[in-house]
Amino acid sequence: MAVKVGFIGAGGIARYHAEHLAKIKEARIVAFCDLSKERAEKMAREFGAGSYTDHRRMLEKEELDAVYICIPPFAHQDQEILAAEKGINIFVEKPIALTLKKAEQIEAKVLENKVITSVGYQQRYLDIADRLRLILKGKRAGAFFGYWMGTMPLVSWWRRKEESGGQIIEQTTHIFDMARYLFGEVEKVFAISRTGLMSEVKDYNVEDASSVSLYFKDGLIGTISSACFLSCGFKVGMDIYLKDMVIEYRWGRSLKIIEEKRTEKVLAGNDPGFLEDQVFIEAVRTADPSGIRSDYSDALKTLKLTLAADESLRTGKVVKV
Ligand SMILES: NC(=O)c1ccc[n+]([C@@H]2O[C@H](COP(=O)([O-])OP(=O)(O)OC[C@H]3O[C@@H](n4cnc5c(N)ncnc54)[C@H](O)[C@@H]3O)[C@@H](O)[C@H]2O)c1
Repeated sequence: MAVKVGFIGAGGIARYHAEHLAKIKEARIVAFCDLSKERAEKMAREFGAGSYTDHRRMLEKEELDAVYICIPPFAHQDQEILAAEKGINIFVEKPIALTLKKAEQIEAKVLENKVITSVGYQQRYLDIADRLRLILKGKRAGAFFGYWMGTMPLVSWWRRKEESGGQIIEQTTHIFDMARYLFGEVEKVFAISRTGLMSEVKDYNVEDASSVSLYFKDGLIGTISSACFLSCGFKVGMDIYLKDMVIEYRWGRSLKIIEEKRTEKVLAGNDPGFLEDQVFIEAVRTADPSGIRSDYSDALKTLKLTLAADESLRTGKVVKV
């Protein structure tokens, strides 16, 4: 029996997942819900599904095995909670919420109802992320630089801090998450930021750029920088420094491993987003979540880290995670 899936949110990332699910024979999309009737209906027509404008009604009417929650950060209210109460398994996009209170409330429901969860940190499913973890196993990294230097995304909610959370929480969260995936948990952070560069962008109140220093529990130090003011020169990834090796990771694309007598370049060989969706559908189909690399509770730790960085931005103080 195919896994019956509904979508809450029918925007850009919903399309990305829907296109994957359309190629996975164990999955069947049965409905799309969006506040915009037009968007929900367009996706519904395209993927041969029903359409709704109210997620409560969709969750009531449809017999779903799983729901993909693909809404902007500020919009998380009762969607996950209602799904969990109905025993519907949940795929939710990052960031999982904008406050710890909301995310912890959702986590409690998810754990109480024992539903399977997966969160959209797709970089964890890259084959070069596997290779990176293998290289680092048993070694101690000394320091790293992570970065997401790019342009401002076009969706209107992104430029408002109260709606997206800002670049650290919404976008560079992928790099913070990768740092946790590779190096473990962070003890404390200190962050600085700047603003005022983008006079041509109307009505924005997110930082133009920020830099966060991280101190890990095992002594590793790192810096993660963000910028959204660029019009060219997009650069996303992480450079990792060990005593006898430098590793350059380029977001989704490649690894360069530099040693004293040898340099190796490895290109990514898989589509991590497709694998992420395949693994989630298989987990729901077999009731076995062991292949999922980022569940709700784990993503909550990444949210905690980025919220701590944001608190440091606001207070100018070192913040314990
Ligand atoms: N994993 C990734 O690499 C990745 C990439 C892009 C976006 N995202 C995340 O996905 C989420 C959505 O981003 P997007 O780019 O698709 O945004 P989007 O603006 O393109 O789409 C969001 C859709 O949600 C709808 N919506 C808002 N509130 C709703 C509600 N209460 N019920 C139903 N629909 C509602 C909007 O009308 C809109 O159509 C964000 O959290 C974003 O951070 C993740």
